[in-house]
Amino acid sequence: MRLDIITIFPEYFAPLDVSLIGKARRRGTLDVRVHQLRDWAHDVHKTVDDTPYGGGPGMVMKPEVWGEAIDDVIGDGAPRMIVPTPSGRPFTQELAQELAREPWLLFACGRYEGIDSRVMTEYGSRLRVDEVSIGDYVLAGGEVAVLVMTEAIGRLLPGVLGNAFSAVDDSFAPGSMRNLLEGPVYTKPPVWRGHEVPEILLSGHHGKVARWRRDEALRRTVAARPELAAAIDPETLDKHDRRI
Ligand code: ADE
Repeated sequence: MRLDIITIFPEYFAPLDVSLIGKARRRGTLDVRVHQLRDWAHDVHKTVDDTPYGGGPGMVMKPEVWGEAIDDVIGDGAPRMIVPTPSGRPFTQELAQELAREPWLLFACGRYEGIDSRVMTEYGSRLRVDEVSIGDYVLAGGEVAVLVMTEAIGRLLPGVLGNAFSAVDDSFAPGSMRNLLEGPVYTKPPVWRGHEVPEILLSGHHGKVARWRRDEALRRTVAARPELAAAIDPETLDKHDRRI
């Protein structure tokens, strides 16, 4: 997958050199290219923003600079364009899976009050453009949101996770545990500071372990995310589930 990121803070993306994503880049599974938006500004101050029409606080990113940057980065190509913004559609595991199937993504990181809306209109007629929010809070810019999305998408690419089954059990992954949060996990030693690992996990009984994990996942979902628990299709629950 090719991934272009346009930003005024390329330094934010240093973490993409480490861990799973760093390894995927070195192996060639992921081709990440980070671009400095100011390289396309023409004045001596490398200005990328201006005051908003209609008044109000803050600054808005100028369309001309963005247009030249995007044109140069994409050439004749047509990546799917993602604009991180708190006003966007929610970033979910489902969207991460959809984006992981794309051959080429372009992230346009806004700062200040955002990017002049005509940029999204202009490229919306040529590319698939999505404005995406990673949660109901406001960050100082799109860079951290792009790091979050890149990690969520990157770990789904073929060969990136060491164990192909790791992504299957994830909270929010499709399958029998769909829409359930993952339950607690344990490793050795069996007793630590007087706290014991649940006995069933030491039993070697795969059926009972699976049942226990599902029960714990349900319990955790009810406690931490009651709205998710309420949305579970009752048809997918068995008698045991219903007691939780
Ligand atoms: N930029 C600022 N806040 C954001 C958020 N919550 N999600 C995506 N991009 C953002």
